[in-house]
Amino acid sequence: MTQPPLHTIALIVAAGSGERFGGGLPKPYAMLGGKPVLRHTVEAFLTHPKVDGVRVVISRPYHLTYKKIVSDLTLFPPLMGGARRQDSVRLGLESLTHRRPTNVLIHDAARPLVSHALIDRVLAGLEDADAVLPAAPVSDTIRRRKPDGSLEMLDRASLIAAQTPQGFRYDKILTAHQKHRHQNATDDIALAEWDRLQVVIVDGDPANLKITYPSDIAAAESFLHHHNE
Ligand code: CTP
Ligand code: MG
Repeated sequence: MTQPPLHTIALIVAAGSGERFGGGLPKPYAMLGGKPVLRHTVEAFLTHPKVDGVRVVISRPYHLTYKKIVSDLTLFPPLMGGARRQDSVRLGLESLTHRRPTNVLIHDAARPLVSHALIDRVLAGLEDADAVLPAAPVSDTIRRRKPDGSLEMLDRASLIAAQTPQGFRYDKILTAHQKHRHQNATDDIALAEWDRLQVVIVDGDPANLKITYPSDIAAAESFLHHHNE
């Protein structure tokens, strides 16, 4: 049975193993301010008035953990991810074909502090473009190690840090993912560029950090407390 088309779907990828975070339990299930990281992430999209559905991509060993965390929420059924983030995203996109969404917001479960204001900016960008990248200024001085061992200083003002949610016209990013599945892309904007989609940049949010190392939990908690003051 075909279902009615939905305008915007959030696809949240949570199927990684969290090598850098360590400690056994993958980071979407780590506690942040009294709730699992993934619960923060899912709620941000579920409570946004312009998001019509949320699909989470998980890994099989944590299916039960996932079910417990979201048991009281109305989400699409979870989907099992793949070996690379790119595979998890592609499988997630392919799982939505029968829903025929116009737009998809692809987001890392490991970014639990995504705000409605940021989601609004990405959706606004999608009114004029097929792909939207939220980006934040880079605060570290970044150097590139060259093959000869020397260090190249990069111009910080020209660098931007790519965040998620990255927003896309659903059919276009699905095609890009399927076409380039045998290449390696670190994010979905890279695939969009390979497929020559028009990309617009909107302001990211310094608070929208990605939990990567254990110390990022403390950093995220301080943003949370600041926000709740
Ligand atoms: N992810 C995924 N499927 C994968 C790999 C990553 O769904 N095969 C998800 C992660 O769960 C995370 C997001 O993609 O929410 C961003 O990836 P990253 O921060 O690199 O998480 P991990 O791959 O889990 O961590 P690490 O790279 O340290 O192993
Ligand atoms: Mg990773």
